[in-house]
Amino acid sequence: MNQDQLKEAVGRAAVEHVPRGCIVGVGTGSTVDRFIDALAADAGRVAAAVSSSERSTERLRAAGIRVLSANEVERLPVYIDGADEIDPRGCMIKGGGAALTREKIVADLAERFVCIADASKQVDRLGRFPLPVEVIPMASAQVARRLAALGGQPTLREGVVTDNGGHILDVRGLHIDDPLALEGEINQWPGVVTVGIFARHRAQLCLLGTSEGVKTLHF
Ligand code: 5RP
Repeated sequence: MNQDQLKEAVGRAAVEHVPRGCIVGVGTGSTVDRFIDALAADAGRVAAAVSSSERSTERLRAAGIRVLSANEVERLPVYIDGADEIDPRGCMIKGGGAALTREKIVADLAERFVCIADASKQVDRLGRFPLPVEVIPMASAQVARRLAALGGQPTLREGVVTDNGGHILDVRGLHIDDPLALEGEINQWPGVVTVGIFARHRAQLCLLGTSEGVKTLHF
C-alpha cells in the first residue's frame, strides 16, 4: 500500500471509533480529509462536528455534515486527528498544516484523542519533524530568539497566516526528551499562541497505517 492508501485505510478505520449519533471533533490534514470522506460515506453517522480549521469546516459542509462552533458544545466523546510525529507514549508533534491552536482547543473538549497516521509518523523521540509554534506576529522575532537559546533553529513559515491571524515558526534541531515540560515552558512565553507539542493532550489511541494493515496502539 502506498501512503495515500494507508491514509485512506486509517481514515476509514477511525469511523468505528465514533459513537453513532454523536458530535465528533475533527482535526485537519490530508489524513483527516480521508476520515471526512469516510464519514460522508456513512450518512447520518454523526449529528454534527466541531472542526479545527476552515479547511476541515469546508470539507465537512461539502459532505453535508453540520458544523458547530467550539462555543456551542461542552464535551465531545472523541476527537480524530492526524499527527506529524507520535512517540511511544502517544505524545505528538502537530501543526504541519498550521492548525495546531484550534486542534488543541478541540482536543481539549474531547474525552478521547484518536490519532490517525501512517507508519512514517511513528518515532522513538519527538523532534525530527520541525516543531511548529504559532505566534502573535509582533512577537515572532522575540520568540525566535528564545527558541534559539533552547538550541533550536527557528524559521518563519513564509506566506502563512493561520486561521487565527497568527504566524508559524518551524523549529529544527530540538531534542525533545521531556515533551510535557517543553510544552509547558514554551506555552508560557509572551507572544506564543500555541506550541505544536501535544503532550497534555496526547493521544489515547493511534490507528497506524502499516504495510500489514491498520494497527491499533493504546497509550
Ligand atoms: C495540521 C496537523 C496535521 O494533523 C498534521 O500535519 C498531519 O497532517 P497529514 O495528515 O496531512 O500528514 O497537525 O496542523
